[in-house]
Amino acid sequence: MLWDTSLAVINLLAPNRPANRVVPAGHPGFNGEWPEYVPPKEGDSRCSCPALNAMANHGILPHSGRNITFKELNATIRTTYNFSPSFCYFVPNYAAQMLSRDYSTDTFDLSDLDVHNGIEHDASLTREDVAFQPDQGKPSPRLVKELLECGTGPNGDLTPADLSRISGKRRTESRVGNGQFSLSTFHKLFGSSNSSTLLTIFGGRKDDLIPFLTEERIPDGWQSRIRHPFGLTLTEFNSTVLPVEFGIKEELPWNGKPKKTKSA
Ligand code: HEM
Repeated sequence: MLWDTSLAVINLLAPNRPANRVVPAGHPGFNGEWPEYVPPKEGDSRCSCPALNAMANHGILPHSGRNITFKELNATIRTTYNFSPSFCYFVPNYAAQMLSRDYSTDTFDLSDLDVHNGIEHDASLTREDVAFQPDQGKPSPRLVKELLECGTGPNGDLTPADLSRISGKRRTESRVGNGQFSLSTFHKLFGSSNSSTLLTIFGGRKDDLIPFLTEERIPDGWQSRIRHPFGLTLTEFNSTVLPVEFGIKEELPWNGKPKKTKSA
């Protein structure tokens, strides 16, 4: 955390990168030029994360989605999306621990990340719950449409209040409709963290989120909206994630039982 906080402070003082120079020279996406998008083929491995699937679809991670090293994941999420080095170290390490693998020497396939209630959880905004959609590797057209249509910002862009509102709706819907529903406080925070990348890295921009969420494709010319030289730190990220999470209101009490109404 000390490392992350230090980077957050340096980011406050150092000038931002130009909007068209966020991806460093020599890396895919430099100048907004992304490698060709090829949708997943039969046998390719994909997961519940649109950002990692998009990297595989563009060949930034192996297109097969297989035999990825955790170090490779660290390096590529840094240059592609401009998360901070601390985030890019922390999350792949967390994933390695979750899978009981060695961060430095082992590999994984994207679908390995879909351990239910590891990072993957119920009431996601882009996937049906695992009880209804055992293969979490594809977006749910119904949910993505609803998410993309819920923006109340300029041009229909997503705002923090939109994400809180739609997350509350999803949590209520899952709690009522999914007999196997579970969502710990920890996974609620994971959920809000994942969805808050749409506000930070993507600036909530609907036009960019349409290809990203429907096809898991990075739009031509796109670069991360986070322009700090040391990327999006966990410290800065929390200032978006926490208001999104605390703004979520489920329409049922926490025990999931319908509210008592006065009998007629
Ligand atoms: C080491 C890197 C990462 C890992 C291991 C990872 C893993 C995951 C997993 C397992 C999920 C599914 C959670 C759920 O059930 O909803 C997820 C969702 C998501 N992730 Fe990632 N992710 C990583 C990096 C990123 C990055 C860099 C971004 C953004 C640029 C991102 C954006 C998202 C989004 C938007 C969702 C969908 C949330 C939803 O459907 O509600 N992830 N990620």
